[in-house]
Amino acid sequence: MTAQDRTVFLSDYQPFTHLVEQVALTFRLSPGATRVTARLSLAPNPARAGRQDLRLDGEGLTLLSLRLNGAPLALTPDETGLTIPAGLLPDAPFTVETEVEIAPEANTALEGLYMSRGMYCTQCEAEGFRKITFYPDRPDVMARFRVRIESDLPVLLSNGNPAGQGPGWAEWDDPWPKPAYLFALVAGDLVAHSAPFTTASGMPVALNIWVRPGDQDRCAYAMDSLIRSMRWDEQVYGREYDLSVFNIVAVDDFNMGAMENKGLNIFNSKFVLASPETATDDDFGRIEAIIAHEYFHNWTGNRITCRDWFQLCLKEGLTVFRDQQFTGDMRSHAVKRIEDVLLLRARQFREDGGPLAHPVRPDSFVEINNFYTATVYEKGAEVIGMLRRLVGDADYARALDLYFTRHDGDAATIEDWLKVFEDVTGRDLAQFKRWYTEAGTPVVKVTEDWDGATYSLTLSQTNPPTPGQPEKAPKLIPVALGLLNPNGDEILPTTVLELAEPTQTFRFKTATRPVPSILRGFSAPVVLERQVTPEERAFLLAHDTDPFNKWEAGRALAKDVLARMVTEGASPGPDWLDALARVAFDETLDPAFRALALRLPAEDDMAATLHAAGIAPDPARIWAERRRMAEAVARHLAPRLPALIDSLAEPGPFTPDARAAGRRALRLAALSLLSRVDGGTAAAAAHAGADNMTEEIGSLACLLDIGQGAAELARFEGRWSHDRNVMDKWFALQIAYAAPDLAARVTTALTAHPAFDWKNPNRFRAVIGALSANHGGFHHASGAGYRLVADWLLRLDPLNPQTAARMSTAFETWPRYDTARRALVQGELARMAGTAGLSRDLAEMVARMRSAG
Ligand code: ARG
Ligand code: ZN
Repeated sequence: MTAQDRTVFLSDYQPFTHLVEQVALTFRLSPGATRVTARLSLAPNPARAGRQDLRLDGEGLTLLSLRLNGAPLALTPDETGLTIPAGLLPDAPFTVETEVEIAPEANTALEGLYMSRGMYCTQCEAEGFRKITFYPDRPDVMARFRVRIESDLPVLLSNGNPAGQGPGWAEWDDPWPKPAYLFALVAGDLVAHSAPFTTASGMPVALNIWVRPGDQDRCAYAMDSLIRSMRWDEQVYGREYDLSVFNIVAVDDFNMGAMENKGLNIFNSKFVLASPETATDDDFGRIEAIIAHEYFHNWTGNRITCRDWFQLCLKEGLTVFRDQQFTGDMRSHAVKRIEDVLLLRARQFREDGGPLAHPVRPDSFVEINNFYTATVYEKGAEVIGMLRRLVGDADYARALDLYFTRHDGDAATIEDWLKVFEDVTGRDLAQFKRWYTEAGTPVVKVTEDWDGATYSLTLSQTNPPTPGQPEKAPKLIPVALGLLNPNGDEILPTTVLELAEPTQTFRFKTATRPVPSILRGFSAPVVLERQVTPEERAFLLAHDTDPFNKWEAGRALAKDVLARMVTEGASPGPDWLDALARVAFDETLDPAFRALALRLPAEDDMAATLHAAGIAPDPARIWAERRRMAEAVARHLAPRLPALIDSLAEPGPFTPDARAAGRRALRLAALSLLSRVDGGTAAAAAHAGADNMTEEIGSLACLLDIGQGAAELARFEGRWSHDRNVMDKWFALQIAYAAPDLAARVTTALTAHPAFDWKNPNRFRAVIGALSANHGGFHHASGAGYRLVADWLLRLDPLNPQTAARMSTAFETWPRYDTARRALVQGELARMAGTAGLSRDLAEMVARMRSAG
């Protein structure tokens, strides 16, 4: 079977033939031979005329018995499921009972029911439930689940409310109809970190975070984040929790971040467990965001789910948008926006500009797991942000209220979503909808004119071709604009222009020639093209009242400088260095903002920028010039760095809040610069004195970056060898800071380390993912980086196709590079494509990456 044989199209959607009223599942757990009995109460779906076959999905199941209305039925399943012919089915409600056997301990794909270090757990999104029992495994089939688990393990969990337990068994009842992808089961020797919660309307909820014994003292931050998330969703969206318990389980072997199963969220342990000694500020921030994200899914995903997997952005884009709002409220909106845009550009723009580009709502797929992408998630969230800007905050709130009341209990579509906005505002959103259906990052070109009385701003959009979409109509692009006087006063506060045509001119009366601040807050996910002098950028860096554009001005300056260093061998001039110094030492600014301003452009970002300018990027040169840039900054700021570092020392015990984290971020940014001029003395001292992981690993990174830190690395390993999540950092850091010539060799050496457990996705990502992210090393002219990553993907693929396919995106940027590198990547892609037995997941990714030559 070729990948294309399996292509699923949005246009083929039909409602399911039957309705599932109720599901009763019984699990007799055993590592090698778990028995699952399922009793489905079904009825013909009135939406489908005539008698229909009943098709149940099922993969890798040993069918032991099958009954229809209690009577045995002799049917043989095929590779992907079981069909009960229409002729055997009554034209009235009926039951189907199956018993199957599965082997969770043999499940290395970590999809369906599997084992992680002695505990049973599940991952069913998107199509994993079919590996547990025969079932219509599609999100528009929503049913009530009752689950009985039999096992000697002490903790037995499933969705919904507890419905009884005794020695060796437990039962759960979920009153909320749900699709099978939200099913979950956990069994293990676990302990809970618990807290009570009372909803706004007075319903008590028992909150539990379940972890391995010994980890319970590292759950406090996740619990605190959960409680704040629950309160926030009540206050901001009017959404309350709806069960008597909310369980979270931390699992060490997990293909993704976390999963929003109804009432039983399952998390990658790295996004739950945290203490000051083991987790960095970034870890704390991610835990807070992911706990919130999964909790928010209870309404945006679970109560209102997706009709089909093409609608994935309906729940993911909205839930990412909600978790971004939450983090902004908890921490800083300005800093959060900058971080989100950095991520969007690094991942989504990269995806949108290459062979894997696809619309926020794709219209076909081979393997849906390959579409849990930055485009669906992050661009999906941007689209909602644009919608909110266009309709305003008040109408956004009214539209969301209508969405929740109108669609509660539904499996909905993007059309349903847009309709609530149309109904609330009376606007026609047909043009806006192109953001969902057309891939590619629009480019907005800006030209200006001022005639002494009127300032004219002309905006032109182009929508580049993407795979399968050669031509595109103009989009509706909200462009937030402010105008400043040359003295820095704001003469036009932020105003949203609506660019709907290929070209439009907007006019403003003003007696002075203003300096425009365009795309404030990054009001649309586009590339802005405008001829700007360094002086004007420096002016905006100093004076823009919009914090995002203030940062953006500094970033653009830095990118211009680095681009000229790479292409012309230029050196950083005093103007830029002075402008940077002013921000770095400006005590009126948030330290977190100053730390972001000091972050130099990423190598991958520079490569993309050079490619866009028609230059094939040379990764080794980008790496070397970026270091030269860091050294120039270090020398320029050096005299004032020690005082800055001292002033940012946090007295008293560690707290993970945004204020303290921002101070640590700036302190480490300064320490990293100082290391380039003091030979690592300050970093070594900071490392020796560190009492939290942020400082411990941050100072170690400073040392590795200047070719030191061998003794510290060895000591770190000795101190943390018992802790998987911390050791992942140890692995990743060495590769991240390896010079281009050494990265592949360092990686190879680490793959021989006894603790390189490559079947564990976190460890695999920490090592192989770190090499893919080391721009100079991965794209090394020898091809050693490409080869090593491809070798490991091919090794992982037979065991864990999902993670192998996900990590193959390392190769998606090949069209940017020179012919020699392109040929090397094409060689690796061809080698993968030609490997016998390649998974559908990896085969689809490789085929898509090869085809866009
Ligand atoms: N719904 C989960 C989340 O957004 C992620 C599930 C990812 N599933 C997958 N097959 N990749 O938190
Ligand atoms: Zn999600």
